[in-house]
Amino acid sequence: MKKISVAIDGPAGAGKSSVARAAAEALGYVYVDTGAMYRAAAVYALDSGIDPETGAERLVSELDRIDIAFAAAKGADGAQTVLLNGRDVTKRIREADASMGASAVAAIPEVRAKLTAEQKKMGEAGGVIMDGRDIGTSVLPGAELKIYLTASADERAMRRYKEIAGRGESCDFESIKRDVARRDENDMNRAVSPLRRAEDAVLLDTSELSFGDSVEKVIDLIKEREKHVL
Ligand code: DC
Repeated sequence: MKKISVAIDGPAGAGKSSVARAAAEALGYVYVDTGAMYRAAAVYALDSGIDPETGAERLVSELDRIDIAFAAAKGADGAQTVLLNGRDVTKRIREADASMGASAVAAIPEVRAKLTAEQKKMGEAGGVIMDGRDIGTSVLPGAELKIYLTASADERAMRRYKEIAGRGESCDFESIKRDVARRDENDMNRAVSPLRRAEDAVLLDTSELSFGDSVEKVIDLIKEREKHVL
């Protein structure tokens, strides 16, 4: 069966990354977490004393110095190892300031141009499941399968809460809910490539679905689409 290109987009905390990763492992696809790249760019800014909200000009002037890569080896929890200028930032990019910073730097057109070009290259060979906000609309507009994966705002905030609490970190549900809402607001209303459902994307609302059922649905959609691609 010929492997296809799969674009998965949706709002923060919908479970895109974990669902996409599990489906990719089950089907032997390459998984690309584009959000991790925006997060790494935000960590570069934070480490360099650049405010992700107000430091666009400086960040853009330093874009050539930012090298983001995925290492072949996976971390203990199966997460893709993310390297920022050769340094392992896999854990760092999941911290709250990196989440909010990613949403801010993702609104800078030059940052998007750089990362989008790299993502297009990663998707060129096909056999890839890529998740983000603009994959179906901008990065891989020709993807054979596009999925818009979402869940209610409360459910998404609860999943984020459980994920953070599960790592043993202290967190507060109400502030996570506020952060998720603020990121949605940023990501859906920015001028360049805002988050929106591509016209030809399949809508998958996982509010009432378990993780396993969500993965199964995505796998079924991929297998079904593979049958129709020559
Ligand atoms: O999927 P995530 O939560 O790891 O993404 C982090 C931020 O990066 C998110 O708030 C929006 C931005 N992003 C984007 O603008 N475009 C993408 N393709 C992926 C992420």
